[in-house]
Amino acid sequence: MSTPTVAFDPTDNGNPRHIAIIMDGNGRWAKKRFMPRVMGHRSGVKTVKRLVEYCNNKNIEVLSLFAFSSENWRRPPEEVSLLMKLFITTLSAEIKRLSLKKVRLICIGDNSAFPQELQDMIVDSETLTKNNDGLTLVIAANYGGHWDITQAVNQISAKIKAGTLPDALITEALIAQHLTTANLPEPDLFIRTGGEERISNFMLWQLAYTEFYFTKTLWPDFSTTLLQEAIDSFKGRQRRFGRTGDQVQNQEPPP
Ligand code: FPP
Repeated sequence: MSTPTVAFDPTDNGNPRHIAIIMDGNGRWAKKRFMPRVMGHRSGVKTVKRLVEYCNNKNIEVLSLFAFSSENWRRPPEEVSLLMKLFITTLSAEIKRLSLKKVRLICIGDNSAFPQELQDMIVDSETLTKNNDGLTLVIAANYGGHWDITQAVNQISAKIKAGTLPDALITEALIAQHLTTANLPEPDLFIRTGGEERISNFMLWQLAYTEFYFTKTLWPDFSTTLLQEAIDSFKGRQRRFGRTGDQVQNQEPPP
């Protein structure tokens, strides 16, 4: 039976512990203004900064942002290269300030395909912030949900072959422990901006019990007020995790 690993805390304030976002609409935002697409991505970085600060101040535990999917390599090479440069400049400009604000950075995805400069910067940034106890900011870059599950299964298979797993019974918990998001709570709230209503290979395993929120607002226009609207919508929902509405109202925790 599938058991959600989402923590059930009847004393919480109703805020999501983990918000996962697909930041879509940068290109269209720029096109509407007769600007090159990269200007939309640059403006998107400003939204990232505003939202990271907001989530950190609101004591949200985890904010996950889908920055570059495994499929985004199919974009024109100039756009891919500009995105890489944007990651590098943003990371180098922001990481010290983020660390002072106690933000912990984790990058998930197959980093090996990135320029060496970016790979080094990711390692340095994760090391610098690893003991911070504020918001955990997860940047998914060259990430895909299929890739994540596959790399987890490969890790497990390697351990079985090496004889380092006590028994070879594969459980859901074992797979979850080998995903890139091991030790993080699963997303409570998933947001996609830009009007499309799909999850595009983002955190496929982790989103099993997540509440979805779609908005037509393009990512550069997604403000903290709109984020709060999404959080308020989440707070108004009844999460049942397979139970009945009556069980939830009587505050019976999941088994
Ligand atoms: C999707 O919009 C957006 C991306 C593929 C890139 C998102 C990246 C950023 C906002 C920069 C983030 C930087 C850091 C350091 C986290 P799109 O280009 O698909 O928009 P469209 O659908 O309107 O064409």
